[in-house]
Amino acid sequence: MQSTLPKIVPPTLEWIGDVAGHLRLIDQTLLPTEVRFRDCHDLPTVWEAIKSLRVRGAPAIGIAAAYGVVIGVRHPTDSRDSCIDLACEAVDYLATSRPTAVNLFWALERMKTRALELRDCKDGVEFKSELLAEARAIHDEDRQMCRAIGRYGAELLQDNWGLLTHCNAGGLATSEYGPALAVFYSAHDSGKRLRVFADETRPLLQGARLTAWELQQHGLNVTLICDSMAAKVMSEGRIQAVVVGADRIAANGDAANKIGTYGVAVLAAAHNIPFYVAAPSTTFDLSIASGDDIPIEERDPREITHAFGRETAPEGIKVYNPAFDVTPARLIRALITERGVIDPVTPAQISKVLG
Ligand code: MRU
Repeated sequence: MQSTLPKIVPPTLEWIGDVAGHLRLIDQTLLPTEVRFRDCHDLPTVWEAIKSLRVRGAPAIGIAAAYGVVIGVRHPTDSRDSCIDLACEAVDYLATSRPTAVNLFWALERMKTRALELRDCKDGVEFKSELLAEARAIHDEDRQMCRAIGRYGAELLQDNWGLLTHCNAGGLATSEYGPALAVFYSAHDSGKRLRVFADETRPLLQGARLTAWELQQHGLNVTLICDSMAAKVMSEGRIQAVVVGADRIAANGDAANKIGTYGVAVLAAAHNIPFYVAAPSTTFDLSIASGDDIPIEERDPREITHAFGRETAPEGIKVYNPAFDVTPARLIRALITERGVIDPVTPAQISKVLG
């Protein structure tokens, strides 16, 4: 299914139909030149969509996986036990898609807990419709969390500020609004004039393909730069704050986000620019003490050796391609969550705000 470019961003992902329906998502690998939707009717299609970044961004992959568990219960029969087994198998399978974003595991755990609670339901049809309701709740809660993050974060920004962001932590990475870009949308909607600089975000260009597109669609003043230009733009006094998202935040506030984020944080510190991380509570992993324990995904070397649709490196070259890095808490001015702004970024303050 294909459409012309819309003036506003269509839903990142949505459930189509009733309990026997399917998951539809924007194929983000094709943006910004093509807006095409991918319909996922079976579990391998959902897994592949997450793995290959057709759907990406920590909250969005959690939501996609939640719907994936519903899809995994393919043929609701009268046997609740077989439904529970299918749901648990789907959870285990989808958990193998990507390792870093904790939202994926949080959503899968929640779906599994719900599946196990449904032991007493009438039949498979009721089981599956309750499971769908849980996935819809996860989806809807994300919308509300992102709106709240936007409201809290907007208060930190002033009129006429220049802002920098890295990767895509916007509507395309979540249910609709994003954590980091929610801050910009909310400030923009309240009348603040912002100039946003988007890092292109090598190797997969989420900043150029997604953030620049998304902000443009929403009518924000956005300028695209190469990652290597951030230092210059900061040194010219064009940036008053950096706001990024996160894939997993440890109990001490260390935050994993797209590769390159750590470098931006170091640059921000060198230029005395506040560096904010915006993330819902579902991105916190309080079971790990520090960022040292965050599993970092390594991706296919071809993402680096075959940029721009052609070979861009010598054949047989060694490649290191970590998809994420960890910004230490000491470089983060504050964490912006749906429950409020965590400042200072300390274990005590994190546990106080998140309860
Ligand atoms: O590899 P991706 O595109 O899934 O990486 C996404 C990011 O790093 C985002 O910044 C992060 O998920 C926060 S988005 C809410």
